[in-house]
Amino acid sequence: MTLRTPPEIGGMGHSVRRKEDPRFIQGRGNYVDDVKLPGMLHLDIVRSPLAHARIKSINSANALAIPGVLAVITGRDLEQYNLAWMPTLMGDTQMVLPVDTVKFDGQEVAAVLATDRYIAADGVAAVSVEYEPITPVIDPFKALEPDSPIVREDKEKQSNHIWHWEAGDRNSTDRAFRQSDVTIKQDIYIPRIHVSSIETCGCVAQWDAIQEKLTIWMTSQAPHVVRTVLALVAGHLGLAEHKIRVIAPDIGGGFGGKVPVYPGYVLAIAASFLTGKPVKWVEDRMDNLMSDSFARDYHISAEIAARQDGTMEALRIKTVADHGYTDAATQPSKFPAGLFHICTGSYDFKDAFVEVDGVYTNKPPGGIAYRCSFRVTEAVYAIERMADITAHQLGIDPAEFRLKNFVKPEAFPYRSVLGWEYDSGNYPAALEKAMNIIGYPALRQEQAEKRGRGELMGIGISSFTEIVGAGPSRHFDILGIKMFDSADIRVHPTGKAIARFGTRSQGQGHETTYAQIIAEELGIPVGDIAVEEGDTDTAPYGLGTYASRSTPTAGAAGAIAARKIRDKARTIASYLLDVDESDLEWEPGRFWVRGNPQRAKTIQEIAYAAYTDHPAGMEAGLEAHSSYDPPNLTYPFGSYICVVDIDKGTGEIKIRRFVAVDDCGNIINPMIVEGQVHGGLTMGLAPAMFEEIVYDENGNNLTSTFMDYLLPTAVETPVWETGQTCTPSPHHPLGAKGIGESATVGAPAAIANAVVDALWHLGVRNIDIPITSAKVWKVLRDAGVDE
Ligand code: CDP
Repeated sequence: MTLRTPPEIGGMGHSVRRKEDPRFIQGRGNYVDDVKLPGMLHLDIVRSPLAHARIKSINSANALAIPGVLAVITGRDLEQYNLAWMPTLMGDTQMVLPVDTVKFDGQEVAAVLATDRYIAADGVAAVSVEYEPITPVIDPFKALEPDSPIVREDKEKQSNHIWHWEAGDRNSTDRAFRQSDVTIKQDIYIPRIHVSSIETCGCVAQWDAIQEKLTIWMTSQAPHVVRTVLALVAGHLGLAEHKIRVIAPDIGGGFGGKVPVYPGYVLAIAASFLTGKPVKWVEDRMDNLMSDSFARDYHISAEIAARQDGTMEALRIKTVADHGYTDAATQPSKFPAGLFHICTGSYDFKDAFVEVDGVYTNKPPGGIAYRCSFRVTEAVYAIERMADITAHQLGIDPAEFRLKNFVKPEAFPYRSVLGWEYDSGNYPAALEKAMNIIGYPALRQEQAEKRGRGELMGIGISSFTEIVGAGPSRHFDILGIKMFDSADIRVHPTGKAIARFGTRSQGQGHETTYAQIIAEELGIPVGDIAVEEGDTDTAPYGLGTYASRSTPTAGAAGAIAARKIRDKARTIASYLLDVDESDLEWEPGRFWVRGNPQRAKTIQEIAYAAYTDHPAGMEAGLEAHSSYDPPNLTYPFGSYICVVDIDKGTGEIKIRRFVAVDDCGNIINPMIVEGQVHGGLTMGLAPAMFEEIVYDENGNNLTSTFMDYLLPTAVETPVWETGQTCTPSPHHPLGAKGIGESATVGAPAAIANAVVDALWHLGVRNIDIPITSAKVWKVLRDAGVDE
């Protein structure tokens, strides 16, 4: 990509240092827990020790006897205000507090309000709840059996089956399978995992009875939508939308986990409303790991029909999705299984059929898009594992196999058999680049030699296609609210600017990259542009930041709004220079008269004139708004190659090399993109080798601390080697595609494929993630490998 601006302006393609970092690295960020208001009360939550039980009684007397404990709130209290239940983003219902039964281990049962955080915790310990256990439903397959206990007795449909969803053509796919040379089938489980942001969720709610206004500082990736939903569910209590202000201050990681509304938020609001005092609720780590929304939990049964020559012809996938006790997924309304039907991936399948069944179990609400665009991680993992298994089964090198089956570069825009229109791509280029960086042929030779000596070495590839940037609004909405995003830009008289967006950064660097987009379009130096997000009273309405949608939507809105400003600036320049607009040339930062480059007006001079000397009849000022409804999603892609060495004695897996070649079209800030890829790769390594939320047969969460739920640290993280190809999006105003999640989406399959590749000759076809040393050790012993 050629740079259009010099470093002093810092437009697209410059590795501008992050404007937000000085405050973060000096500990001067402003997070929810930093908000401290006079007279603020604290809320803590009593949680259920059982996965399924009837509440016989709640005794608050001992708690209320503790000095400083002001109230104990129960579901019965909320019921009076019609607030015991709330809607989920998928249109299901979720308890704020239970009135009679609890549905998962760790569920909110009562809230204690106190003058101090520690007193609130003492109050929680002093509340005694009597439960009558009910048989829990833990296994989603058993949940579907006719004699299973029912999780949601409150529903009209007395069944644990929530919904069935399908895409593709069942008949043509079945026919293709009947006619194929080879059929490969594999069951794959993608376990429950948790986003584990370093900052847990929390809020401070402040009801101002004089102004009748609620201000809530909250850890939200989608503050505008939250405000609308609050107004819809609490309008009957006088909380109209203009009387609610949601402020999402600095956020310490969101990754999809801060899109939903959790009971704690509602409880803090209710408590502030009732007491007239500000109320703070901030989860601890255990609260967070036990009750916030989880991701994945897909039980996939996948089949590929192929020709003997290695051509993949048809894909058939059947999935059971465990959603816990309520469908609290954060998917666009029309897609209960998210964008899972991107599961044909980077390959040109002629036939495909995919079906998903959502199931209730006695577990916390599940189904959020953890650093992924609505189930694309599940889709990529399934197809990339299946591609590898098929290649091995047919005795074809996995790289050669992929190159044979890729959608060809000349086929773009490409319509997949499951209905998506991929905007652009060049899959062979990315894979070949990764193969060159890593030295693929030499590695295969080394592997063959090592295998001869009984050593275990594996090479795994993942050539993924991502799908990010929802809208378009004709297909995508959240609870009916169309998915678009927006930008407001105002250039001040002195040529500095402020830009506000409908998204909310959680560490991705929007203050820098959005400023770069405006610098690119207007030539105003990046340091002269302030960027704000996250305050519903000041920012334009938008759907928020998740699913790598910020650059494809709000970033595009920023470019369009800046172009509107440039159009007005052109009219002012023609007036000031007394020439026709058509005689003006633009270069970032100034208009000049064709044939006479000295006759020019800078954007700063024009800005001043917009307030002091603008043409008669023109409105004063220099500002613009754009609400951008993308014509299509963007389809970033990449090829990752991982090399592992496995210790025969211990099963320990060492990632020797990992090369990640990504393509997100035109890049705004290469340094930030590299950072996104590094972080994403580590978050892809995590479920591949470490993380899993585990329940026992009674529904007890066995992984509710970081002692049991293993996050990789720098010690476990290998050196990531990165590279790029650049295939611009044809429809995005800047040619950019999202990047935030690509690496998390693409990495797990590369790692799993490498491990299985090392063990294939021992008869191993699949090991479900997380692939721990213990699992590999057992596989090796079962295969009779000598230590
Ligand atoms: O929605 P989210 O911000 O998580 O994801 P994104 O749009 O993929 O952007 C992540 C970060 O990478 C932002 O700071 C983007 O501006 C930056 N980015 C970039 O510099 N160039 C791209 N082509 C895509 C993203």
